[in-house]
Amino acid sequence: MTGWGLLLRLAREHLPSQALWMALGVACMLGVAGATAAIAWLMEPAFNQVFVGGNRDTLVWLGLAFPVVFVTKGLANYGQRTFMNRVGLEIVARYRRALYDHLLGMDIAFLGTQRTADLVTRFTVDLTMLKNTITSATMALGRDIATLLGLVGTLVALDPTLAALALALFPVAGVPIFLMGRAARNAVRGMQSESGRLDGVVIQALGGLRVVRLFGGQAFEEARVGATLDLIHRHMMRTERLAASLSMGLEILSGVVFAGVVVYGGLRVSEGSLLPGTFFAFVTSVFLLYQPMKRLGKINVVTQEGISALERTYAILDARPTLQDPPNAPDLRVTGGEIVFDRVRLTYPGEDHPALEDLSVRLAPGQTAALVGPSGAGKSSALALLARFRDPDQGQIRLDGQDIKTVSLRSLWASLAVVTQDVVLFDDTVLANIAYGRPGAPREAVIEAAEAAGAHTFISALPQGYDTVIGEEGATLSGGQRQRLMLARAFLKDAPILILDEATSALDPESERGVRQAFDRVRTGRTCLVIAHRLATVRNADVIHVLDQGRIIASGRHDTLLTSCPLYARLCASGTLEA
Ligand SMILES: Nc1ncnc2c1ncn2[C@@H]1O[C@H](COP(=O)(O)OP(=O)(O)O)[C@@H](O)[C@H]1O
Ligand SMILES: [Mg+2]
Repeated sequence: MTGWGLLLRLAREHLPSQALWMALGVACMLGVAGATAAIAWLMEPAFNQVFVGGNRDTLVWLGLAFPVVFVTKGLANYGQRTFMNRVGLEIVARYRRALYDHLLGMDIAFLGTQRTADLVTRFTVDLTMLKNTITSATMALGRDIATLLGLVGTLVALDPTLAALALALFPVAGVPIFLMGRAARNAVRGMQSESGRLDGVVIQALGGLRVVRLFGGQAFEEARVGATLDLIHRHMMRTERLAASLSMGLEILSGVVFAGVVVYGGLRVSEGSLLPGTFFAFVTSVFLLYQPMKRLGKINVVTQEGISALERTYAILDARPTLQDPPNAPDLRVTGGEIVFDRVRLTYPGEDHPALEDLSVRLAPGQTAALVGPSGAGKSSALALLARFRDPDQGQIRLDGQDIKTVSLRSLWASLAVVTQDVVLFDDTVLANIAYGRPGAPREAVIEAAEAAGAHTFISALPQGYDTVIGEEGATLSGGQRQRLMLARAFLKDAPILILDEATSALDPESERGVRQAFDRVRTGRTCLVIAHRLATVRNADVIHVLDQGRIIASGRHDTLLTSCPLYARLCASGTLEA
């Protein structure tokens, strides 16, 4: 979409709701314009009647008129600033909210391809720029164009010939203004994307500071940030230089105009065809023209910043999630919890070989199935498909006979409790973190889930127990403790289907045994899928499926598989399935 298209879209989507404030803003701008022109007008009687004519009566009303004009101008200026900033802030707040809601609904796979910091930059840098554009561009357009018209009108009314001379040169200024706008847009784009990169590098370096230190990466990180900072500096300097050279150009132009007016006007005054007061009012108008001209010249640069920000904002807002509820999707109805993978194939984008191929497997209602296989066999990919974080290229996954593509995503996710190795803890209390899937759960239920996950003891030892705020990513907890909070969260969710993907790998054998006993209690009455490295965990399962290169190659109990499946025997012997 072109820059104009984007601005029109902004206007269409947001201006109607701001009509009142815009109208008030415009009224104030007209006030500013009128007052400015009035200043020039008042110069004429001031000179002609008071200084030249010696008329004291005029002096009295002039003495009253000037303060009135300046107070009006001041108030109108105040009004238009406040109103237009209000409009800008409100529109930007709406964009921020829309962007956040939209991102929360986007495909996991899409977000995986984006740099998180770059997304954050859109909220901060880009939208701040947009606010700036909305307020300064509308103010420039409204106030400065009105002022310009008022002053030009004054010039023409004062003396048409002199006005024609003064105004002939100004259109020349349009050419550099236009050219600079284009150059500015490129500079701004570069600055925005580099800012995203900078945020990313800083977040990574600070988050991984231990690794940076231990692997001697400090100098490398410094150089990396330095290079990005240099680029940002260069882009910003370019924009500033463009703006500065524009000011300079306009200044020179004004100088030329001014010289012309003074010489020609002076001649006319000396030959008596122009009154000194008219001349003085004329010169004042030309002076007053300069400020709004300068601001209008910059408007192109400011607008380009906003357009670039809009471009990046709409790029996200227009990206539709591919995984969406089909129209009028019914909710999933879980009766027994039967899960069927029916000849499922998954190929990741850009990969030649499928990660899962012709995968068919059935998990009977209430059954606990274990999925084992070498690293990279496709175990986690199968889970991603069941949770519809992705869709398979072929085949179908059914839950109690319903194709999971046909039911609402919300109901599908509500029926799954999943624990993976990823620890996601929010900067909140232990209680809130465990109850994340069941906000407002009774305290006793939270404690019960924590006990089942073997987390109650260490939580009780925290300074404020369950009300301790654990900070981002649970920085003050050990790996095993964090993992147990994830288990407690899943247990409390009490979903009919429970999936553990290497969820106990971070635990020491003793805590793992505790969790296993808890798991034996929670697994009754629900279908469970366990992806585990520990033989002890796997051995208790009703059935073990062996996955290799995206296919199930064998299924059965431990003892049978030991003799019938060489890969399984190898996994046990090599310690991949530890005792
Ligand atoms: N997001 C992804 N993009 C591309 N390839 C992936 C992605 N995730 C996993 N893979 C590939 O798919 C295969 C199966 O991975 P995964 O399901 O994680 O295996 P497992 O959990 O059994 O170790 C591997 O070859 C892995 O490299
Ligand atoms: Mg995995």
